[in-house]
Amino acid sequence: MKTLPPSSIIGILGGGQLGRMTALAAAKLGYRCHIFCSDAQEPAVEVSAFHTHASFDDTRALKAFAKSVDVVTLEWENVPIAALETISLLVPTYPAPKILKVAQDRGEEKNFARSIGLGTADFALVSSAAELQEARGRFGCPAILKSTRMGYDGKGQVALTPELSSEESWRLMGSGAGILESFVNFASEVSVVVAARADGTMAVFPAVQNIHRNHILAETHAPAGVSASIAHEAEQAARLMAEKLGVVGLLAVEFFVLRAPDALGRQVWVNEIAPRPHNSGHWTMDACPTSQFEQLVRAVCGLPLGAVTPHSRAVMQNLIGDDFHAWPDLLAQSSACLHVYGKTEVRPGRKMGHVTFLKGAWEGG
Ligand SMILES: Nc1ncnc2c1ncn2[C@@H]1O[C@H](COP(=O)(O)OP(=O)(O)O)[C@@H](O)[C@H]1O
Ligand SMILES: [Mg+2]
Repeated sequence: MKTLPPSSIIGILGGGQLGRMTALAAAKLGYRCHIFCSDAQEPAVEVSAFHTHASFDDTRALKAFAKSVDVVTLEWENVPIAALETISLLVPTYPAPKILKVAQDRGEEKNFARSIGLGTADFALVSSAAELQEARGRFGCPAILKSTRMGYDGKGQVALTPELSSEESWRLMGSGAGILESFVNFASEVSVVVAARADGTMAVFPAVQNIHRNHILAETHAPAGVSASIAHEAEQAARLMAEKLGVVGLLAVEFFVLRAPDALGRQVWVNEIAPRPHNSGHWTMDACPTSQFEQLVRAVCGLPLGAVTPHSRAVMQNLIGDDFHAWPDLLAQSSACLHVYGKTEVRPGRKMGHVTFLKGAWEGG
């Protein structure tokens, strides 16, 4: 892979906060970004040199964008595969379309994890209320019905209870393709972010613990506060997934930590993956020598990856909706590192920013 020098242009598909923080990291190293997104008001646009506002089915705009940049990455996981394929014929594109295909579909994710020996919740793909009814019989309660595609922050998910009929559950899920998952009575949830270069070199951030509220990530704790063997298993599993998928850039893997090892002795199961910066990696901006965003820039530009051993323990809190109004108090706290995404309107459930509290020296996790 050739090294792209500073001043090269990184194309980013999607204009949200992940793109904004990637663009800021790119600027730190002297790169410029070109954002492709549908809305001129998105957070990444105002911190980037160039932008294209067009839809992902506008082939002409996609081609013009691809020709105007030196490399392309993405910050939004649901970029249509056809759009990514169009771009990848013209310019190096990370992640490759085949990786995005796996990450966009919960069924493919789980099949892939299982094909390389990792554990997941039991699942069944269902495409109608009748199929759901049949699968429910086998799974029992509690179980979770999810749309296989396009879900995030718990959207498109229904917790199945005996009172809720299959027809009603199917309607609430709101998609033509579903996945029924057995409910994992997990001890905790952890995630790992891996950075990988085209030559296979990798850097793995330590496992962290994630706490969700209303299905949205509320807090990330670094280190994860699990045993060294569980953290190691999660880190090795994330590394294996990145290697087997052939990731260049970032891969985030979310895991359930089991209360007891499964029949094969595994202590963690894969929940889902994302081939992009991940909310649970935001703490790296303030507690590690290299952030996940800088690693992405380094990986896709063919630069050496940075150091990942943290200097500080940290707790990251998302500022969701009205949480954002605490910004003046947060700025007044010496251990708080505040990041604001520049969204003008506060809405319930909307990620407005995050704050990372530094908690003292890392001391080996
Ligand atoms: N099979 C499951 N068993 C137990 N809890 C689950 C299961 N699937 C999802 N959850 C809970 O819901 C959260 C969101 O689900 P997830 O599959 O990660 O979707 P997304 O993050 O795309 O909304 C998980 O982090 C976890 O807390
Ligand atoms: Mg998730």
